[in-house]
Amino acid sequence: MIDIENRWALVTGASRGIGLRIAKALANKGCKLIVHSRELQGTKNLLDELKAAGHEVYAVAAELDSIADVQRLISEVRALSNDHLDILYNNAAMMTKYQPTFEPTEEEYRISFRVNTIVPAKLCDVFLPGMIARNWGRIVNVSSGINNQPQLMPYSCSKAALERYVRDMIPTLQGTDVLMNLLDPGWLRTDLGGPEAPDDPDSVLPGALVPVLLEKDQGSGLLFCAQDYAR
Ligand SMILES: NC(=O)c1ccc[n+]([C@@H]2O[C@H](COP(=O)([O-])OP(=O)(O)OC[C@H]3O[C@@H](n4cnc5c(N)ncnc54)[C@H](OP(=O)(O)O)[C@@H]3O)[C@@H](O)[C@H]2O)c1
Repeated sequence: MIDIENRWALVTGASRGIGLRIAKALANKGCKLIVHSRELQGTKNLLDELKAAGHEVYAVAAELDSIADVQRLISEVRALSNDHLDILYNNAAMMTKYQPTFEPTEEEYRISFRVNTIVPAKLCDVFLPGMIARNWGRIVNVSSGINNQPQLMPYSCSKAALERYVRDMIPTLQGTDVLMNLLDPGWLRTDLGGPEAPDDPDSVLPGALVPVLLEKDQGSGLLFCAQDYAR
């Protein structure tokens, strides 16, 4: 496994749940960290905790359904990292309500694709060229193992499209030390996963770091299941 000390890392959706765990783990590996949530208040405790422990960490806020917010997020990340982002952890996502099959609205599809697919793809499009030019980068896009649940169709379709983005980018990354992969965290008791989920959010580690710590020859387009490493 590689050394990521002093690498610049952005974790979206770091205020709670899975992103919070991933952010702490990257800080403990020595990354210079940028944490995102909708409001700065959302990551304040995390920021205070990591700073008190001596980590270099900054917070940015953006509603991912807002084009203006996402543009500002990109500008702030570029400024903070001196346009040198090394690790992008596209973790933030929203899930539409569980509802009868055939009933999701167009708006539910729109917002799911906007937050869960278009914005992660946009962040990849923005930061991949710099990573390729420097010949180093790690991107993890958080997907889901959701399967055969038409009641959550906008969510599952948005994750399927994100997986397609990752897989179709493989030829672009071939031969470089820029790796882009997918994480299935498992079904965890977060706000999104709900109280009935079988696993504790802490069980996303150490698996969630595996796609960040890959050696160059391990390649892109792979789906890592965090729960494979939890037990
Ligand atoms: N939990 C599970 O069982 C499970 C299973 C499969 C996949 N996943 C995936 O794992 C990732 C993390 O999920 P989680 O369970 O940790 O979710 P969570 O606890 O609900 O946290 C979601 C995070 O995303 C941010 N976020 C949500 N909607 C946003 C928006 N419109 N704009 C900006 N930020 C937004 C939230 O920020 P605020 O705090 O500011 O709202 C929060 O930091 C997601 O990609 C999810 O699809 C989770």
